[in-house]
Amino acid sequence: MRVLTIGGGGRESAAVDAFHRAGSDIYAVMKNSNPGIIEKAKKYLLTDEKNIAEICRFAKENIIELAFVGPEAPLEAGLVDALEEEGVPCASPTRAAARIETSKSFMRELVRKHKVDGNLEYAAFDNPADTETYLKKVDHEIVVKPVGLTGGKGVKVQGEHIHTMKDIMGYVNEIFENNIGGAGVIIEEKAVGEEFTQMAFCDGKTVAPMPLVQDHKRAYEGDVGPNTGGMGSYSDADHLLPFVGVEDRRKALDIMKQIVSAMSEEGCPYRGVMYGQFMLTKSGPKIIEINARFGDPEAMNVLPILEDNFEKICWDMAKGTLSGAVRFAKKATVCKYVVPRGYGTKPEAGHRISVDMEGVKRSGAEAFYSNVDMRDGVLVTGTSRAVGVVGIDDSLEGADWNCETALSFVESDAIFVRHDIGTRDLIQRRVDHMREILGK
Ligand code: AMP
Ligand code: GLY
Repeated sequence: MRVLTIGGGGRESAAVDAFHRAGSDIYAVMKNSNPGIIEKAKKYLLTDEKNIAEICRFAKENIIELAFVGPEAPLEAGLVDALEEEGVPCASPTRAAARIETSKSFMRELVRKHKVDGNLEYAAFDNPADTETYLKKVDHEIVVKPVGLTGGKGVKVQGEHIHTMKDIMGYVNEIFENNIGGAGVIIEEKAVGEEFTQMAFCDGKTVAPMPLVQDHKRAYEGDVGPNTGGMGSYSDADHLLPFVGVEDRRKALDIMKQIVSAMSEEGCPYRGVMYGQFMLTKSGPKIIEINARFGDPEAMNVLPILEDNFEKICWDMAKGTLSGAVRFAKKATVCKYVVPRGYGTKPEAGHRISVDMEGVKRSGAEAFYSNVDMRDGVLVTGTSRAVGVVGIDDSLEGADWNCETALSFVESDAIFVRHDIGTRDLIQRRVDHMREILGK
């Protein structure tokens, strides 16, 4: 099948790889020259991923039969709606369905209206004065979020990034003054526990789960420093996590199924990958956010161990013919992102980087290029995450070892990596934290 892919990051590199394994003819659109994607594409177009007119022209010219959109920005811009109007089936949500991610107040209101489990207390505001009046009344710790998209970096948590009423209102005012996210402020109850990601394939009614993954948002080892898009992630061979059992996973999946049926009832059926970010608390999984796409880095954990045909799954999502189960190998994975020096605060772009892909493959691992670019024939870093390296093995320990071996094939003098991701120590801390919360 002639498949159009949108996006040039690590997540899209993993998706392109999965299409390639499925035998698709790949037509790729991205804004940076990602060598991993270019190598597997029949043809590619370098343009802004929100350039709808140009992307539709490229799709028509190449008689595209199926489209897959990686990042959220083109979903919000209405790319899927435009492609569908041109007759191209899409394995990604329309603009209306993508509101589950692009508007945090839409998501919370939908969940409240349809009495979906796992909601948190919240209130959305369009001015600082009403926000302050509300804040004076709440008797629990809170989280401040811009309502709209901020690339995963707009959230401030009381007790971590903000402490006093002055700090909180300072950030609320900043969001309004600078129009961060473009749609006001949402104040949420702070959930306390351990986070995990449940992703699923959806076709408007059927929801087929992927293995659970845990991401690491903080920039530095030991879970400190600023929030990032995600520094790395792991998944276990039994598709659960060391601190999330079968029952809590079932609850999380049930929440996602309730959301998918609520969206159909609202007249905006959800087709595509859905990403559920949950906090496992002492009263079960709570919704932190729902995204309208694969997680990045989480896509790099699950796609390399996908056993079914990715093109077929995407076709079924687009056409509403998905079966309830998709198969993944019983393998553990550890993904560590190589990021440019200064990432999280002041990233330094434009430094030379090289990856010995043969070496990575020989070690049984995978590496996916992300925000890198070609400049005068030289591969250089951008301001975001550069290369995702994924170790795969029967156990988490083996996967971590495999990932570290593969990391030695990445060379640059202006990068860093969170080596603690996927290690026994860090995972044990998560397990202990969860035990403490549950009072066990
Ligand atoms: P988000 O961009 O919504 O994923 O938020 C970024 C990070 O902020 C999450 O991964 C959580 O660690 C934290 N966070 C967001 N919402 C909440 C909440 N309601 N309670 C506690 N932590 C939260
Ligand atoms: N890894 C977090 C995200 O993709 O939103």
